[in-house]
Amino acid sequence: MITHFAQLELHTVSIQGVKQFYHDQLKFPVGFESADEIHLHPTEHFALIFREVTKALNPVHIAFEVPFTAFDHAVNVVQQAGVTLLKWPDGRTVDKSETGRNVYFRDGDGNLLELIAHVYVHEGVLRPCGDLNILYLREVGFPVDDVTAFRELLVELFDFKLDKVADNFTFAIGGTAHAVVVSKMRKWIPIAMTALPPAMNVTLGVPNQPVIDAVIRNLEAKGILYTIANNRLHFKIDDYNLFLKLTNMPQEVPALLQLPYSRERN
Ligand SMILES: [Fe+2]
Repeated sequence: MITHFAQLELHTVSIQGVKQFYHDQLKFPVGFESADEIHLHPTEHFALIFREVTKALNPVHIAFEVPFTAFDHAVNVVQQAGVTLLKWPDGRTVDKSETGRNVYFRDGDGNLLELIAHVYVHEGVLRPCGDLNILYLREVGFPVDDVTAFRELLVELFDFKLDKVADNFTFAIGGTAHAVVVSKMRKWIPIAMTALPPAMNVTLGVPNQPVIDAVIRNLEAKGILYTIANNRLHFKIDDYNLFLKLTNMPQEVPALLQLPYSRERN
């Protein structure tokens, strides 16, 4: 099974702008930096990489999970850093539900970021990292033309589980990784932001080689071309570059976290 989002590679129009936001304001550690590339490490299991480009960007939506007991602190840290929280039409910034709460804000490239916490996520399994106490990257948004076809492909390739299934929206879930599969016609909450497909490389972490072998068999059965380079399996779905790589995230982590679609596995 897929355990987590291990790496996300995005475009930016300013490496310096990325560094000022993610490092100076959000305090993400920098692992590598050059004139046109920067690697940020919000947790020990996830790398956020930006490469500078000279073209227009489509913003991505991503969400970081924080412990429920640390949510208010994390929001406070973001605000104290001078980051503006986005408002819902009624003016509130924090959204509360039965299962948790969340807030949204944007980086300098217009990417829509979210901090989210759930009451059911078991604390003490993953180490909260940095000033925001981030546990893992929970969500990556995938705007698509055909939500049904895209989510079914994720199920068939990766044995992803589906939640909140609708014609224009679905969570496709593998371990801690939630692919937010949305119609390009459905706007991102809370600011009704047009969901344009971003250029991105998404690397999914897997715990052992048999998982990669199984995905390769699934790709071959569907006639989807793939390559293996730099220890990553690479293929494209729609215009999205997906990668799989072996990581040291223990495979039992999602179940230990008590995530709803991982509990039954143990
Ligand atoms: Fe989200």
